Amino acid sequence: MSPSSPDVLVLGSGIAGLSAALGAAREGASVTVATKSTRPEGASTWWAQGGIAVARQNPEQFQRDIETASSDTSDPAAVEVLTQQADAAVRDVLIETLNVNFDAGGDGAPYDYGREAAHSADRILHVDASTGKHIHEPFLAYLAEHPRVRIADGTAAVGLLAKEGRVRGARLASNGTLAPVYAGATVLATGGIGALYGHSTNPAGATGDGIAMAARAGADTADMEFVQFHPTVCIADGDPFLVSEAVRGEGAVLRDAQGERFMPAVHADAELAPRDVVARAVERAHERTGQVVLDVSSFDFEATFPDLQALCESHGVDPSTGIPVVPAEHFLCGGIDVDTRGRSSLEGLYAVGECARTGVHGANRLASTSLLEGLVWGLRAGAAAPGHEQPAGRSEEAVQTGDPPAPDTLQSAYDRIQAIMDEHVGLRRTPEGLARAQDALRTLAAEVEPHAAPDAPPVGHELQSACTVALLVAEAAAQNEVSVGCHYVTDPGDAGQPVAA
Ligand code: SIN
Repeated sequence: MSPSSPDVLVLGSGIAGLSAALGAAREGASVTVATKSTRPEGASTWWAQGGIAVARQNPEQFQRDIETASSDTSDPAAVEVLTQQADAAVRDVLIETLNVNFDAGGDGAPYDYGREAAHSADRILHVDASTGKHIHEPFLAYLAEHPRVRIADGTAAVGLLAKEGRVRGARLASNGTLAPVYAGATVLATGGIGALYGHSTNPAGATGDGIAMAARAGADTADMEFVQFHPTVCIADGDPFLVSEAVRGEGAVLRDAQGERFMPAVHADAELAPRDVVARAVERAHERTGQVVLDVSSFDFEATFPDLQALCESHGVDPSTGIPVVPAEHFLCGGIDVDTRGRSSLEGLYAVGECARTGVHGANRLASTSLLEGLVWGLRAGAAAPGHEQPAGRSEEAVQTGDPPAPDTLQSAYDRIQAIMDEHVGLRRTPEGLARAQDALRTLAAEVEPHAAPDAPPVGHELQSACTVALLVAEAAAQNEVSVGCHYVTDPGDAGQPVAA
């Protein structure tokens, strides 16, 4: 294989990117996986807690749950692909290829299938509540030994090489050099947008790079207004950490500062209502009473979730007295618009995982479907991607990268993005706030543009990507006047009633 000109260039190294690499390598393609992370923790996959949902031979019931959680806004054809292929993909890759040791059930049952909000069946495979790292680490190790796959870490993509609607690879920055890498097909698997918000469950590098690069190259995006907030994130010492929905699946309840359970009055499924409903209720209870805690006293938390017990303790939180929680940004349901094989609107460009909008999630994602979507779409895109010829007419040159912006300049730009997004493009939005957000983000985008000059280092391009994607979210939110799922538009000053149901 030619490392500088692979058949398939994958950008990103979470489950979606690694599955795409595996899918392409199985077709005999040469694959380069370029990732700006230098450690597994740089990918959101590593952080995933609850698990990965499977169909357990009942794809129809699984499909109904996904569609209901999305308020029937997901694309049934995409959901059908996911639910029909879930069991086989998990068995093939995770169990038989990577030997992931999912928790066993009692009485000799091979698996302990967990339950999370809005699932009508126990169907979530997990390893304690740290499933992501138990998938991600063996996956990286497996591909590191694969003869057709090269993993280039510490290598950030700063732009796509696109000509006349055809994507021909990407510009990659590594060790102070910015060089073109041409490829038959390019697969974006760059993850989410957590850096746009003050509090997120994503790792720090989630700046929306792939979405911004694709949009700049002219690819279609869709559903960008549907930013999912997780209802139970603990921010005990300023450092947010997720408290998995599996904890509510086990029987934990939410209480306000007066000790009152508020979810039964909000939804028939109480704490196990769809995630968007619980997140808004937690935010309101927090505003009303000053605190919300997750009460785990109905079961043995330490024995059931030893990893989460340790995580709480490492942040100075004693779960037995209630875990303080708030909603925080968790997942972008929209992204680069792709079909059921991950093909975007540009020839030679694919997108998988959180940066892609497959149509599976619609306006609100069902819990524990993101690893599954990354796996299934990654394999499908990887199998389809080797069909493209290598691009002709290569004219880009390598350059040395210039100086980065001063740390204060970078920090203050991110502070401004986060302040705008938190105030105007969060869990509850108003038309006026969205208009203000767009104005402020356009001003900021013009200010940061010089930091993304052709020879700028990755941090400058990342900042520009964060601005571009924030604006895409705010614009999409402003264009959608209907409150549905994660996108909830209220009148200014309103206590929580949507403008339109
Ligand atoms: C969780 O463990 O609560 C997160 C699962 C998910 O986001 O799908």
